[in-house]
Amino acid sequence: MTVLLYDRLGGYDAIAVFANKLISAAQADDLLGRFWSHRSEDRNARDMQLLIDYLVHETGGQMYYTGRDMRLAHAGMGINEADWQRFLEIVSQIAQALQIPAPEGAEVTAFLDTLKPEIVNVDAEPSTVLIGERH
Ligand code: HEM
Repeated sequence: MTVLLYDRLGGYDAIAVFANKLISAAQADDLLGRFWSHRSEDRNARDMQLLIDYLVHETGGQMYYTGRDMRLAHAGMGINEADWQRFLEIVSQIAQALQIPAPEGAEVTAFLDTLKPEIVNVDAEPSTVLIGERH
């Protein structure tokens, strides 16, 4: 029987710790911190909960994700390749600190790779298509 990635990562609490460390590190980072400037604590707390819900849901846990999809949630922020690489470095540092085993770490990385085209949007085409331009 296949054990869910959710369970292999340690379930809800472990994923919540991971998400907290990830957001704290990204917010404190010289390069990435700009994406969270001028945001209220409440807004940040809500986003944190959405990230936890999303990760629980995507790894197979029992959570109904009520947030926006990744393309919509990050559209227009101008997240570029350097931001993405920095984000991956932070993820890998946290995975090491939390002693996430290599196979699970690799699954998380593979999952993040699938999200990259939805999140890195600095060169993205405008998302609005005028009526009549659809083919
Ligand atoms: C360089 C990479 C990233 C940056 C700089 C970034 C930044 C942000 C920011 C600033 C928000 C708040 C959006 C708003 O104000 O409306 C946000 C929302 C969110 N992000 Fe990211 N993000 C990144 C990558 C990711 C990844 C890889 C995931 C998933 C694993 C993710 C999941 C989410 C979720 C679930 C939300 C909440 C969506 C909602 O509000 O409905 N982000 N992100």
